[in-house]
Amino acid sequence: TYVIAEPCVDLLDKACIEECPVDCIYEGGRMMYIHPDECVDCGACEPVCPVEAIYYEDDVPEQWTAYTKANVDFFDDLGSPGGASKVGKTEMDVEPAKSLPPQEH
Ligand code: F3S
Ligand code: F3S
Repeated sequence: TYVIAEPCVDLLDKACIEECPVDCIYEGGRMMYIHPDECVDCGACEPVCPVEAIYYEDDVPEQWTAYTKANVDFFDDLGSPGGASKVGKTEMDVEPAKSLPPQEH
């Protein structure tokens, strides 16, 4: 799977969601999250993020490894909806994004 990390927090550029063929990038309150089971590893989202927030799971920079878990934890309650557009925006976030101070962009 691919993982969205800290640079997305309080930015949510959303260029990534236009590229995803399986609509597996979901909107939280402060960032977007990739569904780890629904992502088909196509990699199309990664180069279009203007702040390089998206990484293949094995390539997540060390300071952001908690975001690998965040992209899993976000779906604890949501499960596997099979499409982000039908879920729409949620106000939910998980750690570490949830407690991060406001991010300037
Ligand atoms: Fe976030 Fe980058 Fe997508 S800022 S919403 S991961 S394009
Ligand atoms: Fe979609 Fe990116 Fe995965 S475009 S399928 S979330 S690698």
